[in-house]
Amino acid sequence: MTDQAPAPESVIPGEIAGDLPGKPTAASRTTLSHIMTHNDTNLLGTVHGGVIMKLVDDAAGAVAGRHSGGPAVTASMDEMAFLEPVRVGDLVHVKAQVNWTGRTSMEVGVRVLAERWNESAPATQVGSAYLVFAAVDADGKPRPVPPVIPETERDRRRYQEAQIRRTHRLARRREIMELREKRAAEGYSD
Ligand SMILES: CC(C)(COP(=O)(O)OP(=O)(O)OC[C@H]1O[C@@H](n2cnc3c(N)ncnc32)[C@H](O)[C@@H]1OP(=O)(O)O)[C@@H](O)C(=O)NCCC(=O)NCCS
Repeated sequence: MTDQAPAPESVIPGEIAGDLPGKPTAASRTTLSHIMTHNDTNLLGTVHGGVIMKLVDDAAGAVAGRHSGGPAVTASMDEMAFLEPVRVGDLVHVKAQVNWTGRTSMEVGVRVLAERWNESAPATQVGSAYLVFAAVDADGKPRPVPPVIPETERDRRRYQEAQIRRTHRLARRREIMELREKRAAEGYSD
């Protein structure tokens, strides 16, 4: 143990006082369900990945809007994983929740489950994704979001994992910007 204050990124909100009161994860957790039809297929006859991504963005956007109490835009979508093919006649459930909040942004974690629409077999996980949303004001400028309050051990694990992804996103962006600046200084124009 040291007497050093923990880095802000390692503190779970709810434990810190912010300008806005915190909101529990459960307050905005949302499930969007949709039956897949022939309109949703790719050339192989299974459901197009873009159809799933749209549902993921829709569900995550609803969560971000509910949590932040107003409009929120997708800033990034990463680690979209397709684990199993989705078929016509599958009832797809897209489950989304706020994993982490920054000052004006939120990471929303999404799990995609599928079950046959007319069978009572358990649903299987077919995909997952992490999206960052920025809450925006009427002019489209970022505005502060309430800190999310993780309530369960699973929520706390997701919060901590989201912090790791945030650190990596920022580091990757910084490294790429530094490389571009270095190449520009060396006279490369592409
Ligand atoms: C997202 C957007 C509002 C960010 O605006 P900006 O002027 O760059 O503002 P900032 O740099 O202050 O970023 C705001 C927050 O978003 C986060 N953010 C911005 N770009 C990000 C990215 N690519 N990935 C992850 N987070 C990002 C920042 O870290 C910051 O979070 P914090 O306040 O919690 O630390 C702006 O780029 C935008 O409007 N993009 C278009 C969004 C859109 O139209 N989406 C629909 C998809 S077509």
